[in-house]
Amino acid sequence: ATHKIGYFVGSLSSTSINRTLASALIALAPDELEFTEIPIRDLPLYSQDYDDDFPPEGRRLKDAIEASDGILFVSPEYNRSIPGALKNAIDWGSRPWGTNSFARKPTGIIGASPGGIGTAVMQSSMRSVLSFLDAPQLNSPEAYITFNPAVYDANGTVTDDGTKTFLTHYMEEYSAFVQRVLTANAPGHI
Ligand code: FNR
Repeated sequence: ATHKIGYFVGSLSSTSINRTLASALIALAPDELEFTEIPIRDLPLYSQDYDDDFPPEGRRLKDAIEASDGILFVSPEYNRSIPGALKNAIDWGSRPWGTNSFARKPTGIIGASPGGIGTAVMQSSMRSVLSFLDAPQLNSPEAYITFNPAVYDANGTVTDDGTKTFLTHYMEEYSAFVQRVLTANAPGHI
């Protein structure tokens, strides 16, 4: 079966290495996954004041999450945590109270840095947030990517066999995980 994956890129940079990584992951993913980006750029900064009259930007974000079978976060690490623009989008998706759009959505978290930490601390922050939001997460494999620009061509195609094998395996495991959670969530399944 085909699974609709909504993906977030946690960077607003025009030269984002995480956007390159997202393109590479999509190109290497199994055929049963169909990807749609969930944009975060135009969201206002969330405030509870919006809850009574939720604006169209927030509604569109929630609809996109709810229309997805699974969610993939491809994000940088900012100051050892989640970039503000991405955290803002997650806050929007979690509200108004009682309508958390992430509940029970299978999620994957991956990201790239120029340095050796490879977004590990951001990913750890994300796991706390997504746990609170009741979103199941692919626990293994983990993917902490130290971005080597020589490994990706202009279209995001991976030119190094080791990287290609690793990212392909990650997406195969992510796809299998999405399938498992969807099966567990299906009506009638205990
Ligand atoms: C960074 N960077 C960074 N890198 C990292 O590994 N750990 C960190 O905590 C931070 N902190 C941080 C804060 C801020 C405000 C910026 C702008 C950058 C460096 C970061 O990994 C690098 O700029 C990446 O290129 C960002 O990813 P994108 O935007 O290229 O996808």
